[in-house]
Amino acid sequence: MRAANKASNELNILLTGASGGIGHALAHSLAARGHRLLLQGRNKMALEQLCNSLPDAHRHLVVPADLLDPQQRLELLRTCRSLPGGVDVLINNAGVARFALLGDTDDAAMRSILETNLLVPMALTRDLLALLQQSKQGAVINIGSAFGHIGHPGFSIYGASKSGLHGFTEALRRELGDSRVRVHYLAPRAVDTSLNTDAVVGLNRALGNHADSPQLVAEQCVALLEGGRSARRFMGWPERLFIKVNALLPSLVDSALVKKMPVIRRFAEQNHLQHPQGETP
Ligand SMILES: NC(=O)c1ccc[n+]([C@@H]2O[C@H](COP(=O)([O-])OP(=O)(O)OC[C@H]3O[C@@H](n4cnc5c(N)ncnc54)[C@H](OP(=O)(O)O)[C@@H]3O)[C@@H](O)[C@H]2O)c1
Repeated sequence: MRAANKASNELNILLTGASGGIGHALAHSLAARGHRLLLQGRNKMALEQLCNSLPDAHRHLVVPADLLDPQQRLELLRTCRSLPGGVDVLINNAGVARFALLGDTDDAAMRSILETNLLVPMALTRDLLALLQQSKQGAVINIGSAFGHIGHPGFSIYGASKSGLHGFTEALRRELGDSRVRVHYLAPRAVDTSLNTDAVVGLNRALGNHADSPQLVAEQCVALLEGGRSARRFMGWPERLFIKVNALLPSLVDSALVKKMPVIRRFAEQNHLQHPQGETP
């Protein structure tokens, strides 16, 4: 990655979870706009393949790291701080999920979901803040989920992590409101990636939930980045309406989802048999 003489509209972007479905689509959308990417994920080979598939591959950098390992996170920060052009944008996209009833979720799975989806984005944002504040176009984009706004049976820990991420984003947006750093939040509904196991795909079909393409999420994320002001977006219809109804009349959503419990329980049990513990897939 050569970043010393970048044009004013070219940004250096740290994209976490680049090796995943949404990360892959985002990397292509951002690289096509001329931005330089630090591609983060755990799977080095997948990141290198992604990098080689991007336009002007030599402009991007592969930075494999397990974000749950403090030492590897430190190495990643060292790389960011050593870049001549700094880092303008942090996209907290890496995430894990687990579709399971609470009784089937052990401590290790809870910890992994909360750390990956909530603690890591908060720590990374804190540790990169000084760099982002040096940029004229500093920004953080946190990838949340509709399940952070509609508590959904079978996703209590995942929903808690995304709900926490939204709370963090909202407070930080205000904390940095008098600075140049913009703070965005994007909440997709179901997306067609390998984050979702067969049982989750089956559940979505049975409940009539639509899944968006990763490309659509990438477009929305780029729109936030290019939109200028700090903003949050919720994706999908009728999910956007359900989020509003849930905020105003949660008991209505309670009864609608309780009626679906037999279907949710059946798919959750199928998922538990296929993925007994730990993060999925
Ligand atoms: N798919 C959906 O239905 C959906 C809906 C709403 C929101 N989201 C959110 O969108 C984001 C991206 O999800 P996705 O669908 O693209 O999932 P994905 O395809 O499973 O990709 C997840 C990414 O996170 C990375 N990751 C996970 N744990 C990590 C760790 N400890 N250290 C470093 N990287 C780690 C993975 O790296 P490796 O592959 O290298 O392990 C991978 O790049 C997540 O935050 C997710 O919660 C997804």
